Amino acid sequence: MNVREAIEKRWSPRAFSDEQVDRKIVKELFKLGGKAPSAFNEQPWTYLVGFKGDKSYDLIFESLGEFNQNWTKTAPVLMIGVVRKAFNKNSTPNAHDRHDLGQATAYMTLAALEHDIYLHQMGGFSADKARELFDIPEEFEAVTAIAMGYVGDKNQLPKDLAEQESPESPRKAIEEFVFEEKWNQAIK
Ligand SMILES: Cc1cc2nc3c(=O)[nH]c(=O)nc-3n(C[C@H](O)[C@H](O)[C@H](O)COP(=O)(O)O)c2cc1C
Repeated sequence: MNVREAIEKRWSPRAFSDEQVDRKIVKELFKLGGKAPSAFNEQPWTYLVGFKGDKSYDLIFESLGEFNQNWTKTAPVLMIGVVRKAFNKNSTPNAHDRHDLGQATAYMTLAALEHDIYLHQMGGFSADKARELFDIPEEFEAVTAIAMGYVGDKNQLPKDLAEQESPESPRKAIEEFVFEEKWNQAIK
């Protein structure tokens, strides 16, 4: 699968099959995510990972908001993406920490599609709860939760979510987000 095919295939399912993802594959995906570029090559990302049935999974699940708990129930893998807020080398704030975490997660997301594995990122979780449950040190911050697994049957979801489940969601035209010469002047 080439990159374009992976990008076109990607979407964020909520219905996951309960088939577990091989730990070896998950580790390979983290390795590929870790190849993302980052400011000063800081690699400010850390991931907490849990496999359904283990303690880590339950702790991540506990930190999710109710809406997300409703559909993540069958996801075989849960993660939390964490950043280190300051540069290791001089302790100055890293303004690009979240940007770089997003890139690593995007790399992982695209690489996963080769195995028909999908990632669904979530802002709906409590970073404070994650800090408390995992004893995350002060200099780090939890940014996003992520569900990962194979696509399942949408009818396992609550009715309203089943209706929303779709590989296609609307996108802005590039003229809405690419400008030339001055602000708001769409690319020609
Ligand atoms: C940072 C981030 C936070 C998100 N938070 C949630 C969330 O809490 N719950 C949820 O169901 N989806 C969440 N999403 C998924 C988005 O709603 C989804 O990516 C968007 O609607 C585009 O759909 P697509 O990914 O299928 O193309 C989040 C996505 C991102 C990148």
